[in-house]
Amino acid sequence: MESPSSQAHWEMVYTTKGEKEVSWYQENPAPSLELFARVGATPSTTIIDIGGGSSRLVDSLLAEGFRAITVLDLSTAALGTAKARLGAQAAKVRWIVADVTVWEPTESYEIWHDRAAFHFLTEEHERTAYVAHMKRALRVGGHAIIATFAPDGPERCSGLPIMRYDAESLGQTLGQGFELIETRRHSHVTPGGTTQSFQFSVFRWLG
Ligand SMILES: C[S@@+](CC[C@H](N)C(=O)[O-])C[C@H]1O[C@@H](n2cnc3c(N)ncnc32)[C@H](O)[C@@H]1O
Repeated sequence: MESPSSQAHWEMVYTTKGEKEVSWYQENPAPSLELFARVGATPSTTIIDIGGGSSRLVDSLLAEGFRAITVLDLSTAALGTAKARLGAQAAKVRWIVADVTVWEPTESYEIWHDRAAFHFLTEEHERTAYVAHMKRALRVGGHAIIATFAPDGPERCSGLPIMRYDAESLGQTLGQGFELIETRRHSHVTPGGTTQSFQFSVFRWLG
């Protein structure tokens, strides 16, 4: 199912707010990078960042020599911000404007990373579609690194309701075939100085 209203929401956010004015802004994506190292990522590892927005994760990955990076997001404006920031380096990245719940993956990836996109899927049919696409896109033996708000985290983000997860409830939502291999809490400090409790969970896709 298309989600034009959701897309309009995110385009409005990214066209009216500066990169550092959104609550999820993170100067240094250290928690994600640590988990990339934890799963043994190397520069040739194929990575997709789902709902990557204008995140600086791609900058850090490029700086570490990763060369098979794809960033997918609903918002053209969000990806435009990241591309403009990266300049010529942006050409080393594959950019996809799509709704992950309707996108048809045409390639496979060894790491599926998602920080704060999955938790916006409040409808079961959206979560089912997301998981189906993740299974299709992930190589067997690959890893899903998913960060959501934790059970003691906020109930809304960007004015939208979200779902909160611990590693166990996220694992149940993903279903069979995903082996939990790492779980971490992270306290994110927003640019406004509020602390938000995140849950990072890493699963191996067993196929
Ligand atoms: C809270 S932001 C997080 C952005 C980025 N991951 C970060 O850590 O800075 C959520 C992002 O998910 C994207 N998003 C939300 N729903 C999506 C969907 N169904 N498909 C693709 N992207 C989506 C939004 O456009 C937005 O960029």
